[in-house]
Amino acid sequence: MGDIILQVDHLSAAYGGIRAIDDISFHVNRGEIVSMLGANGAGKSTLLKCLSGEHRRLGGEISFDGQPLPSKCYSIVERGMVIVPEGRQIFYKLTVFENLQIGCAQRTDRDGIRSDLEMVYGLFPRLREREKQYGGLLSGGEQQMLAIARGLMARPKLLMLDEPSLGLAPIIVNQIMETLRQIASSGTTILLIEQNAKKALQISDRAYVMNVGRIVLEGEGKALLEDEQLMTAYLG
Ligand SMILES: Nc1ncnc2c1ncn2[C@@H]1O[C@H](COP(=O)(O)OP(=O)(O)O)[C@@H](O)[C@H]1O
Ligand SMILES: [Mg+2]
Repeated sequence: MGDIILQVDHLSAAYGGIRAIDDISFHVNRGEIVSMLGANGAGKSTLLKCLSGEHRRLGGEISFDGQPLPSKCYSIVERGMVIVPEGRQIFYKLTVFENLQIGCAQRTDRDGIRSDLEMVYGLFPRLREREKQYGGLLSGGEQQMLAIARGLMARPKLLMLDEPSLGLAPIIVNQIMETLRQIASSGTTILLIEQNAKKALQISDRAYVMNVGRIVLEGEGKALLEDEQLMTAYLG
């Protein structure tokens, strides 16, 4: 086991009186790809929103990189935990380049920013080709690439993605999963939220399965991939 970069203990969260996350505990080791799987409504996005500081947690402890997680979104990003949100949420009226600049708005290291821009254009050559294109004119797959690239421009230690495969053609999903593997192998830890269990497990070291606000299963990616019965019980 490597050292733990993210440790979550007994996390709960609610919307009004409705508990969306109920006593969740899990961890991510440095360098891993860990997937959090679950059907629609399982609580995956709420979990990520708690981690990114967008949603207040009711209880529980989160420790990141050896320290308690700050509560403000911008402090969490500064510490190195960055979210690629559900539905991409890129800026349609800004260019690809401008969207990428937003990802590094908190940074001041010009040389680092320049080399990270080259790095993301290397990962996604399509984005370099479309650098001056408006975000709103990109295809769904390109928008997802842009959302990931924008996240990387913050130079995260942990990149958290909320359903990057949603609504994309299988061939594009494969490309994106392959790129996530490249990102992880160059040293960025990944927490991947997915409904598409099969694709996610193919690139994951470990995975957890959520069902109505709780973690009901965990295991190595490969083992869960072969555990068809357990998978269909929670993922349909
Ligand atoms: N803004 C919200 N207000 C009220 N309930 C919500 C809100 N967002 C999500 N929920 C509820 O919380 C539960 C978990 O939702 P969510 O975290 O989006 O699940 P997932 O991402 O796994 O589909 C669901 O029952 C959902 O209806
Ligand atoms: Mg969701």
